[in-house]
Amino acid sequence: MSPHATQDTAVPTGTNNWWKEATVYQVYPASFYDSNGDGWGDIPGVVKKVDYLQSLGVDVVWLSPMYDSPMHDMGYDVSDYENVLPAYGTVQDVESLVEACHLRGMKLILDLVVNHSSDQHAWFQESRSSKDNDKRDWYFWRPPRYDEAGNRMPPSNYRGYFAGSTWTWDEKTEEYYLHLYAKEQPDLNWDNKTTREAIYNSAVRFWLDKGVDGFRVDTVNKYSKHTSFPDVPITDPKSYIQPAIGMWCNGPRIHEFLREMYDEAFAPYGDVMTVGELANTPDPKNVLEYVGASAKELSMVFHLDIGHIGMGPSLEEKYIFTPWKLTKMKSIVEKWQSFIEGTDGWTTAFCENHDNGRSVSRFGSDAPEFREISAKMLALMMVTMTGTLFIYQGQEIGMINAPREWPIEEYKDIEGLGYYREAEQRSENGGGPTRKENIMDGLRILARDHSRLPMQWDDSEHAGFTTGKPWMRAHDLYGEINVKRQENDASSVLSFWKDVLRLRKEYRELFIHGAFQVLDYENQETFCFVKSRDEKRALVVLNFTDKSQPFTQTEKTAGMKLLVGNYSVSSLGTLKPFEGRVYM
Ligand code: GLC
Ligand code: CA
Repeated sequence: MSPHATQDTAVPTGTNNWWKEATVYQVYPASFYDSNGDGWGDIPGVVKKVDYLQSLGVDVVWLSPMYDSPMHDMGYDVSDYENVLPAYGTVQDVESLVEACHLRGMKLILDLVVNHSSDQHAWFQESRSSKDNDKRDWYFWRPPRYDEAGNRMPPSNYRGYFAGSTWTWDEKTEEYYLHLYAKEQPDLNWDNKTTREAIYNSAVRFWLDKGVDGFRVDTVNKYSKHTSFPDVPITDPKSYIQPAIGMWCNGPRIHEFLREMYDEAFAPYGDVMTVGELANTPDPKNVLEYVGASAKELSMVFHLDIGHIGMGPSLEEKYIFTPWKLTKMKSIVEKWQSFIEGTDGWTTAFCENHDNGRSVSRFGSDAPEFREISAKMLALMMVTMTGTLFIYQGQEIGMINAPREWPIEEYKDIEGLGYYREAEQRSENGGGPTRKENIMDGLRILARDHSRLPMQWDDSEHAGFTTGKPWMRAHDLYGEINVKRQENDASSVLSFWKDVLRLRKEYRELFIHGAFQVLDYENQETFCFVKSRDEKRALVVLNFTDKSQPFTQTEKTAGMKLLVGNYSVSSLGTLKPFEGRVYM
């Protein structure tokens, strides 16, 4: 018997798993709510806020990693899958959170981080202890190479995600180990069946047995590597290390591994929700191999394109801000909205998470006169999108990026700091801005830190997040942008989100399940699209600029009524700055 009941409501398309129509809210535990004044958010703090999440209209809470960890990458470096970081609480606290959610008809999913562990995990400690340790092969160990001058060199020329090589030398056993991320995050060897079994037991079954309803699956397509680790061609002549993501994304055995995890670890627990983080997979055909129901691998994936808007084109350039046009956003949205139409696959809708700057600052405007209206416009875009909807903490009140004046010392993220420090070493003197200046400029818009600022609950010190000293500084504007101020204001961003989340459910066959079509593809100022199913249609009209724009699709509104908009008064032929409307 499956411990997880599925709830079936009739909808016009396909099988309706419970997670399809869910609104998911991502909680970043460090920054959500501190219940004991030590400056760190914690699980009891999340429990205290479950009523708030219910009042918003959330069905599923996704808790970012809360496992025990030395916190080099904010818990994405797990040292014990079966324990909770003491600052966050205990396993019992997580069980209480499961219960608090279930009592309210909500669900809880955790973050499954099993491409790598922490170097402090007992598995790695054993693996590194000697070449003939039982667990040596649980990670990737390789002998050094030597160049012509006899210098010791890593086994291959790969650049990792956090700047620097993917290989770190281990003095004790005189070999290198592989880490796609920080050197404190060694990659687990999924090619070893015993390792996979241990992962399923410790990281998956342990928590499903405690009643969690699923997982967001970190770096889901990187488990299978090309294990001969050949050098990649040189595309960045200024550097020894080269972008090499093709060496580990969608590798030779990835579908075998995910199918096995589904069969052995997820399926026995019923309709477990899984949402994979899918990088570097541009062809929808390949995405369907992960999310088609018949593939039996994952419920859905995050396609990361929307988060990459404004980033540089390569890994090396990631934090060099690159101006973008609205057509870029449209083509991304259209692609990942449409690819499931007529298939048994499923998709997601999101524009914020813990790895990106705030959507108001990136896609709307965080200028005082526009931040609320553009937050509402973006809310309209999100709630009318097909797929499972994900909201990131603070998005519902229109939180914005950290102030531009904040110095690098306020930034804490290992990735952004890695790029910054690397740029400091590389003195480039072409007369223009230095790489360091360019990276700092990019971080002000794109850094992962912006989403990790404390949640803004009220106007008391540190935004009401903690009574102590917060691990990360609260935004200077918390007095203006906070939950308390918005809760009793019918015209606030928060109230708007509540309303439109309700409408999303009311018109689920169009908003959650509808076919998607862009109307004004070439227009760089407005984004108009139609959602349709059978004879029903909704028209969504969004002005992405801070100026009035002509509304060119007026004839399309014939016979339709205005369902909702972000201005109380509007005139048909003109869209006010950041105006959004939905016609039905
Ligand atoms: C994912 C996470 C990110 C983390 C990385 C390594 O991309 O979202 O926060 O740094 O995996 O685990
Ligand atoms: Ca705390």
